Amino acid sequence: MISLAQVRADTPACEHLIHFNNAGCALSPAAVTTAVTNHLRLEQELGGYEAANEAERDIAAFYTELAKMLHCDETEVAFMESATRAWQSALLSLDLQPGDQVLTADNEYASNYLSLLYLSRKHGVELITVPSDNDGLIDSQRIADSITAKTRAVALTHVASQRGDIQAIAEVGDLAREHGLIFLVDACQSVGQIELNLKQLKCDFLCGTGRKYLRGPRGTGFLYANRDTTQSLAPPVVDLHSATWASPADFEIKAGAIRFESWERNVAGVIGFGKALQYANSLGMESIQTRIRLLAESLNRKLQSIDGVEVHERSAHLSGIVTLSRVNTEAETLWENLQALGVNTSVAKRQNARLDLDSVLKRDVLRASLHYYNSEAEVSRFIDLLAAS
Ligand SMILES: Cc1ncc(COP(=O)(O)O)c(C=O)c1O
Repeated sequence: MISLAQVRADTPACEHLIHFNNAGCALSPAAVTTAVTNHLRLEQELGGYEAANEAERDIAAFYTELAKMLHCDETEVAFMESATRAWQSALLSLDLQPGDQVLTADNEYASNYLSLLYLSRKHGVELITVPSDNDGLIDSQRIADSITAKTRAVALTHVASQRGDIQAIAEVGDLAREHGLIFLVDACQSVGQIELNLKQLKCDFLCGTGRKYLRGPRGTGFLYANRDTTQSLAPPVVDLHSATWASPADFEIKAGAIRFESWERNVAGVIGFGKALQYANSLGMESIQTRIRLLAESLNRKLQSIDGVEVHERSAHLSGIVTLSRVNTEAETLWENLQALGVNTSVAKRQNARLDLDSVLKRDVLRASLHYYNSEAEVSRFIDLLAAS
């Protein structure tokens, strides 16, 4: 069981604001900020390379803690500067050829979809986008029906930025494996709030970011690359960290997910990310998931009682992301009003979700995203403020 008093004490800003923008960037535990600033100070005192040597164990903890959280091997995870770069590196390692097909869905993260459009425009890769059902869920049968002899990969976002329903990625993983397709999962909004077991989930690549539900520093992310199914895939670029210069005219790409990493990195960020993962692992993903779900259900239920408010999550598979609209008030105005009252939320913009918000809802929506350190009292206060605004 999570001690709410303890996790709020570990999160100093809880004292003066209601932070419902965890899907944008969560508040880090104080231990994370301390680890980052301590390392920056060490760099100032010793020099950057020397500080990294001193901090070897803290750097290694990033890999150990992430592997523990995902139930995978340490050699299967790479530190990346962002989830987008991680996802793109995985996609480009597939070396897709003209006519190859990639299946995705209408909730795909904007930058991922842009990369797919880019591959389509530049290399003639065919993009097939499966629409979600009325309840916001992507039916794996629709994906199965869209697979052809030319399909090479399936790319799905586990929980979308603009919609909080949890997608059935395990079913799609089974399907992809059955058809010999590469399965690429964007877990940016799910990792840190939903238990992910990569021993069971049949995916080849999975990416995440540090700053959202994992509560790590900004400018950090990761890529998981399945040891058995991705070792023959070459990264889109190499450097002296991901490859060895074997002879003047030859090089060897390193084994493991390290081949997707860059030599230069924000070492303080790696250390802070490791601390955030350690913090989450010590609370336990099951407890985290249960608490977030309870809060989201409560918010979802209470919102239904406000006149003129529409909640956009309609499935039973709720995450901590709750999106809503209010008649006659723009999402931007609601966001502004709430911010002025000390409540952080965010706006999911239709221009960044052309396939669902823009085509179906035809408007921006307000996004309230909850974490386990939020309280029932904050949910009630949010409801009161929204009803009065
Ligand atoms: C679903 C999803 N994927 C990917 C990203 C991008 O993450 P990053 O900014 O680390 O590249 C986001 C960020 O909002 C997201 O919501």
